Amino acid sequence: MTQPAISDATKVLVTGAAGNAGQAVCRALAAQGYQLRMADVAAPPPDILKMGEFVRCDTRTPDDARRAVDGAQAVIHLAAWHCAHQPPVSDATIFAVNVDGTFNVLEACREAGVRGFVFASSMAYGWGSVYSVSKVLGEELCRCFHETSKAPVALLRYHAFVPGPYLEYGVRLLRNGVDRQDVATATAAALGAVVNGRIGLFRTIVHTNHGMPDAVADNFRALGPDWCEEHVTGSRHLLQKYSLKLPEKVERHDLGEAQRLLGWKPAVGFVEFLQDLEQRDARGEDVAQLHVCGQLPT
Ligand SMILES: NC(=O)c1ccc[n+]([C@@H]2O[C@H](COP(=O)([O-])OP(=O)(O)OC[C@H]3O[C@@H](n4cnc5c(N)ncnc54)[C@H](O)[C@@H]3O)[C@@H](O)[C@H]2O)c1
Repeated sequence: MTQPAISDATKVLVTGAAGNAGQAVCRALAAQGYQLRMADVAAPPPDILKMGEFVRCDTRTPDDARRAVDGAQAVIHLAAWHCAHQPPVSDATIFAVNVDGTFNVLEACREAGVRGFVFASSMAYGWGSVYSVSKVLGEELCRCFHETSKAPVALLRYHAFVPGPYLEYGVRLLRNGVDRQDVATATAAALGAVVNGRIGLFRTIVHTNHGMPDAVADNFRALGPDWCEEHVTGSRHLLQKYSLKLPEKVERHDLGEAQRLLGWKPAVGFVEFLQDLEQRDARGEDVAQLHVCGQLPT
C-alpha cells in the first residue's frame, strides 16, 4: 500500500472512535503519524485513548459536533448504528444518528473549513431497510458537502466485519466479508488521498480479493477445495474437519480504482484465513470457540 505523503502532523477527527472500526482506524492513523482527535458517546478503551485527544460527543447535537470538529483538518466519520448491532438499535435511533448526526458533522465541517472528509458507507447502501437508506442519505449529504465546499470526499462502502465466531468470519470472506484490518488500511489510504487532494469525490467498495481465477470463483463449491489445497497444503482436510460451508460462487468486486487512486488493496483473503487456521489446528487450538472482532486474530 502506498503511504500518504503527510508532511506534518495533520489533525484528524475520527467519529465513532470507540467502535469496532474506530479502534482499528485510530491504530492505523496513529502509526502513520496523524494527530488524533477521537469523538464518541462512549470512551474508547485505554490503549486507544492514549493515542490522542478524546471528545465526548453525541453527533445528534450540533454543538457537540462543532466542538468535535473544531481545529481538525480532516474528518473520518464512522459514528453510526448498524442493523447488525447487538443489542439491536431502533430504526428511529439509526435514522437520527446516521442521518441527522452526519448532517451535523458535515455542517460543522463546512463552518470550520475542513479540507477532507471520509465517510463510512456500507455494502448495505440501498432501499431495503432504514439502515440502508441512512447510507444513501449519508452519501448524498457528503456529496452535497463536496459540491458546495469543493473539499475532497471519499465514500467507502465497507463490507461486513462485525465481530463473531472465527470460523464464520473465515467463510464470510468468500461472501460479503472483509477483514477489519483491511477496513482500517482502506480508510487510512482514503484519508491520505483526501488530505493530499488526490481525489475530488471518490466512492469505492471495500471488500476482499482472493486472487482466484474467475472459473474457480464462479464454481467455488466444486473447484474451490482443489484451489485452496494448491495454496495451503492440508486445506481439503481443514475444510472437512471444520465443516466450512463453501458458497456456490465467491462474491467479487472490481477494486482496481481504489488501488489506482488510493494506492490500496486488501491484504486478507481466504488463503490467509486458511494459513491461520492451519497453524491454529497444528497447535491444537479449539477454534470453534474462538471469537474475533472481524479480523484475523494476532
Ligand atoms: N461492521 C460492519 O460490518 C459494517 C459494514 C459496513 C459499514 N459499516 C459502517 O462502519 C461504521 C463503523 O461501524 P462499526 O462496526 O465500527 O460500528 P460500532 O457499532 O462498533 O461502532 C459505532 C460507534 O459509534 C458510536 N456512536 C453511536 N452513536 C453515536 C452518536 N450519536 N454520537 C457519537 N458516537 C456515536 C458508538 O458509541 C460506537 O462506538 C458505521 O458507520 C457503520 O455503519 C460497518
